[in-house]
Amino acid sequence: MNSKVLTIRPFLQAEERAQDFFDMADRAFKYGSPWSLEQFSETLVRTDLIFFVAEQNKRLLGYIGGQLLGEEAELYLLVVDPPHHQQQVASQLMEAYKSWCISEGVKLIFLEVRASNNRARRFYSKQGFSEIASRKQYYTKPAEDAIIMKCTIGKKDQHVIKKNISN
Ligand SMILES: CC(C)(COP(=O)(O)OP(=O)(O)OC[C@H]1O[C@@H](n2cnc3c(N)ncnc32)[C@H](O)[C@@H]1OP(=O)(O)O)[C@@H](O)C(=O)NCCC(=O)NCCS
Repeated sequence: MNSKVLTIRPFLQAEERAQDFFDMADRAFKYGSPWSLEQFSETLVRTDLIFFVAEQNKRLLGYIGGQLLGEEAELYLLVVDPPHHQQQVASQLMEAYKSWCISEGVKLIFLEVRASNNRARRFYSKQGFSEIASRKQYYTKPAEDAIIMKCTIGKKDQHVIKKNISN
């Protein structure tokens, strides 16, 4: 088996990985995990949310999660483990999320990101998101504005969600 194969698959509510998700977010975000361990534990068992995980040989490399709200979806969290940044892991997680949104009839995806998170803002804009508004002092610890971003999706975004990683 090719050890570099990256698998993207839906996360199952029965998997108990809140600690792994929390630890990775804590490592990846400049100001630590935006959700507490308790919030991960409560959120990952919710059936009205969807998460996808990226794995290599069953090792967790990243995840994405959000919620469908009619013809709109909200993207809550996208995290890639720092040693695997800039290897297209987030891009493939986003493909999976968009494909799921399209299959559910979603037309628009919204998200919020810290104004200072230039890396994520660049990533999202490359993924077709545009910045539509800001929310003053939306975040705490430290206090900071949120940038609201929106992406219109369609059939052109649908791709195969299992690919080889090319590093
Ligand atoms: C933002 C994040 C998810 C990107 O993950 P990633 O797997 O490294 O992203 P990809 O490799 O798929 O990057 C795709 C594109 O995003 C942009 N990008 C990603 N990382 C970047 C960086 N460090 N600097 C500049 N642009 C960057 C580039 O345009 C890149 O395209 P390229 O590879 O052709 O240069 C990752 O940095 C991360 O986990 N950050 C911490 C958590 C976070 O901020 N999440 C988003 C808010 S919820």
